Amino acid sequence: MTAADMDAEVLATYPTEAFLSKDYLAAEKTLLWPKVWQMVERESDLPNPGDWLTYDVADESVIVLRKDDGSLKAFHNVCPHRGRQLVSVPDMLPGKVHDVRGSNRRNFICGFHGWTFDLEGQNTYILDPQDWQNKLTAEMTCLSEVQVDTWGGYIYITMDPDAVPLAEWMGRAGEILSHFQLEKMHYKWRQWAIYDCNWKTAIEAFLEPYHVAGTHTQLLAYGDYYALSRQYGLHSVSSYDTRDAKFEMSESAGTTRAGKGDDPRVSTYELIRENYETVNYSASTETLVNAAARLQIELPEDATPQECIAHWLKSAKAADAARGVIWPEVPPEIKKEGGLAWGLFPNQNILHGETFALCYRVRPYKDDPDKCVFESYALERFPEGEAPQTEWTYADPIGENWGSVLAQDFSNMQFVQKGMKSSGFRGPLPNPHQEQKVINLHRNLANFMGGRGAPTKLDVWPRN
Ligand code: FES
Ligand SMILES: [Fe+2]
Repeated sequence: MTAADMDAEVLATYPTEAFLSKDYLAAEKTLLWPKVWQMVERESDLPNPGDWLTYDVADESVIVLRKDDGSLKAFHNVCPHRGRQLVSVPDMLPGKVHDVRGSNRRNFICGFHGWTFDLEGQNTYILDPQDWQNKLTAEMTCLSEVQVDTWGGYIYITMDPDAVPLAEWMGRAGEILSHFQLEKMHYKWRQWAIYDCNWKTAIEAFLEPYHVAGTHTQLLAYGDYYALSRQYGLHSVSSYDTRDAKFEMSESAGTTRAGKGDDPRVSTYELIRENYETVNYSASTETLVNAAARLQIELPEDATPQECIAHWLKSAKAADAARGVIWPEVPPEIKKEGGLAWGLFPNQNILHGETFALCYRVRPYKDDPDKCVFESYALERFPEGEAPQTEWTYADPIGENWGSVLAQDFSNMQFVQKGMKSSGFRGPLPNPHQEQKVINLHRNLANFMGGRGAPTKLDVWPRN
């Protein structure tokens, strides 16, 4: 499958080994994770020189730190002497261990034999170096460096010294999202869980709105969830699509769109309120919900969907400005192209707006293809100094912790994982228009995985 095939919405399928095979999961350890740029954490989690944290994926562990000059540095978390982890990172453990982090570091001292490293990764102490007959060099005894960069307020790393620069990796997706100024947003909440499915099964549950009608049936009362999706090389986007031209406008691609029905003043409010309240107070903001509530007072009964959206956004923008939250000016064509939500290869999802983002990141858990580390968090623009203090909180995947909509998503994922093991499953039949992000994920995975799991055209049925 080429990008052109994807754009032509050619019918495709792909094998299930990427979800189910232990051997495939093991191969990810060498072919995928050490080769990609991957998001580590928000930059604001390392505000001061000497702040550091660990990021673990598959068998890899990386230390990221902030240096005295304010720049970031990253190293493989391993001592070059005999391979002890430099910082002990226990397996992620519900309620106990998400990562290991700290502040005011001047150096890292290995707990085994005391070799010591400065914040540049240079070795500054070895006990009895003369025993090596003075043959140890700086290159032999320094930490192994990892490339680090930032985008959108996130820290990214790649373990591949030959990787393309991060900006090139992000490509057009990064350019479009840059208009939304994610770097000016802060955590509103952040939660994680160990979940019973492969990491791809989990991320794919959040890649497409095609499942809304079947999974989140209650949301259909006020909105239509017809969607389109497009590949952007490594990454992909989904947008709300319209079957009805009267709702077509640049805003209708994303979350801030009109509700359906005879009175868009009412349905727009109900749509955004329900989304906000049932997606754990994310994917929108209090300002937007309150401004939508005022539509019935501020606009006449015969207001069109376009008038509702224009008035709603103007009024929310003014209300935010009054409390010191300034919206970015996103050109209409960017807003349209930016759509609803991005899947950033391989494991990061961002559903974005001018003042908020609802995001996901999923990683494998140990050597079990049936388990993953699932993380979700909300970002929001807050008035200067008013962002809440948050930390990663373990939250069992139930409605009380995540809101009813995410609980509905959780109610599918483990049963997709189980269902795909059925000998009666003939292979996925992804919707080429609405679920292209899923196909594109497998297309890109296969490029890293030596062709394994590659989507193929569905032009012959039954397949042999
Ligand atoms: S393994 Fe680190 S000092 Fe020996
Ligand atoms: Fe969902």
